[in-house]
Amino acid sequence: MENRFGRIGIVLAAAGSAVGLGNIWKFPYMIGENGGGAFLIVYILCILVFGVPVMSAEFYAGREGMKRWPWLKHLMVLSTTLFFGFYTVVMGWCLEALGNSIGIHGIINEVWMLIGIVMTAAIEWAGVKKGIERTVKVMMPILFILLLVIGIRGLMMKGSWEGVRFLWEADFSKITPTLVLNAMGQCFFSLSIGVGALATYARYMQGEQNLPRTATEVICMDTAVAILAGMAIFPAVFALGMDPTEGPKLVFEVLPVVFDGMRGGEIIRVLFFLLLSTAALTSTISLMEVQTSYAEEQWGVKRHNGIAGASVAVFILAVAANHSTLMLNWMDLLVSNYLLPAGGLLFALYVGWRCDKNEVKQALLPYPTGQKVSLLLYNLIRWVVPPMIALIFMDGIGLL
Ligand code: TRP
Repeated sequence: MENRFGRIGIVLAAAGSAVGLGNIWKFPYMIGENGGGAFLIVYILCILVFGVPVMSAEFYAGREGMKRWPWLKHLMVLSTTLFFGFYTVVMGWCLEALGNSIGIHGIINEVWMLIGIVMTAAIEWAGVKKGIERTVKVMMPILFILLLVIGIRGLMMKGSWEGVRFLWEADFSKITPTLVLNAMGQCFFSLSIGVGALATYARYMQGEQNLPRTATEVICMDTAVAILAGMAIFPAVFALGMDPTEGPKLVFEVLPVVFDGMRGGEIIRVLFFLLLSTAALTSTISLMEVQTSYAEEQWGVKRHNGIAGASVAVFILAVAANHSTLMLNWMDLLVSNYLLPAGGLLFALYVGWRCDKNEVKQALLPYPTGQKVSLLLYNLIRWVVPPMIALIFMDGIGLL
């Protein structure tokens, strides 16, 4: 069928959505701000507890069509749009940094954001199979190779070992409710769960696609890229005596200096920002797909018109978000720490409590382990995920 993903296609498309600025831009600065290894450990725990159950639930809900809770779709398109606005601003920074690295200067932010949106729209325009699937099949392997090259180059620098230690040495006294909330937010952010992007992709899955297995593959790739990115960035930061707690500007302000101090740094710099922009692009296409497929399904809007409409809406939002740092930070915090986990919570409740029990269990049958794992996953979705998210929320905002 024309608008269905192949088995590998959906894995790569979902991984393309998951692997993005969250892994390469956000993850390192979150680690830096939250004290290194302690954050990494809580993050990995979150991935283990929430990752496979919530992602499988979201896939299931998407493939099933959220028939019993149609309002879930309206909610998802709203949080996707808000998220997309914020994401576009950061994507603009990446493209600008890429432009700078090849000698293009003096273009305003809005133009870079527009370029990002137009590239996204162009891929969307070509359709699910010809646009999205083909793009991710080329881009994902390139991304892996680039990251490996940069990581190895970083590790070859003198003094890089400090950075490796910072990443892996855990000081448990640093674990606070806020750190846990941040780690959970980062987990949902990085895995692309909770805004309905993966649910939308699941509409184009083949019926027999194995959900837990697909989720596991996507999560392994996403986590590998995040850790690789950390391994690429911290050794270089430490080798050159820079500050790892720099915050959101870490990769944009610290890294160019790091690259300047390296032999062959100019090339690494171009490669790195190319990597970052590529990763962003495979994520934004999944965001725009939520909007266009929603417009098509709910309002009967033709795909190409939907793409045009979504582009305009997102551009306006991005310009607004770009207007003040305060607004941008607020959007990031609202979306990452609250909207995404809340969305994951709703998917878990929907699949765990509202959908047909037997159908869900059947859909959760993972190859080759069968019944037991399916039951475990089902119970995690039903009994563990919702209260855990609620607890971390309450703890994080000081209610416990
Ligand atoms: N996972 C993306 C990243 O790491 C960010 C993201 C979160 C996302 N939810 C999404 C991207 C939904 C696309 C669709 O950068």
